[in-house]
Amino acid sequence: MAATDYHRPASTMEDGAAPATPRYDIRFPPSNPELDQDGEFCEVLLDGQWQRVRFHDYGRLYEHPGLYEQVFYERLECSSHRRVSSMLADVLRERGQASAYLRVLEVGAGNGVVAQELRQLGIPRITGVDIIPEARDAAQRDRPGVYDEYFVCDLTNLDAAEQAALQALRPNALVTVAALGYGDIPPAAFEAAFNLVAPGAWIAFNAKLTFLSARDESGFASLLRKMIAADIIEIEAYRVYCHRRSMRGDRLYYAALVARKRADIPGGGIPDLRNQGGVLPLSKP
Ligand SMILES: C[S@@+](CC[C@H](N)C(=O)[O-])C[C@H]1O[C@@H](n2cnc3c(N)ncnc32)[C@H](O)[C@@H]1O
Repeated sequence: MAATDYHRPASTMEDGAAPATPRYDIRFPPSNPELDQDGEFCEVLLDGQWQRVRFHDYGRLYEHPGLYEQVFYERLECSSHRRVSSMLADVLRERGQASAYLRVLEVGAGNGVVAQELRQLGIPRITGVDIIPEARDAAQRDRPGVYDEYFVCDLTNLDAAEQAALQALRPNALVTVAALGYGDIPPAAFEAAFNLVAPGAWIAFNAKLTFLSARDESGFASLLRKMIAADIIEIEAYRVYCHRRSMRGDRLYYAALVARKRADIPGGGIPDLRNQGGVLPLSKP
């Protein structure tokens, strides 16, 4: 397959890194235009019974090896793991930087799909962070060794030991994929993660387009706009792309961004130097 085929299912990865996993019977409910992305669900035949699993109930999905991959990467054609990692690789290449020097902090790491991509770029050191233990357990079960260490913690409420352990890793890259907003990683947790990596660090992430628009209510557009205006972050690359299909088959558009950290976010907050709406001149899908 071509290197640009971002929608290639995980089960056909030619690296063969994914262990053999069970196949599930999955059915989608009749299309319901009222249902928001956050409410989407499918039904899975588990222990002989059709059980409803909400797409955002990650603990439930991770409990069953391969179920998350089958739902998101195969049925819904999610491409973000490849899109964000390949954009990071592209920017590194452009800047003449070797991936071999990166120590990645991956936040909202889940079961390691993204880390598997990052390893293929030659990144030697990856630390996972997620708020639920099921994510760590699934990563260790399904992709043993893909993380050097994995923290289950709330970045907005780190205890002293967690803070010290994460800082001691001296991460110089922050990656977060498909995890910002929607009741997942809030702006405050992103800020905390951002301040754990050193100035000069690479930041690679994606977000739903609406979270970066002038009408955004999640807080991410405002945070990023202020970070850019205050020279805390510099955007190196961004790309609008189809993150995945919705349950109804519609394309869900996200933006992937690769940026460079220039400074910590100050404790007292970032002054709003330019209150002018959206972050980037994002085009409408
Ligand atoms: C859609 S999954 C994405 C997982 C992985 N990044 C991927 O692309 O396959 C979102 C992940 O974010 C995690 N998450 C949600 N809120 C979080 C928080 N406040 N801090 C850290 N992780 C969080 C969830 O537990 C889940 O594993």
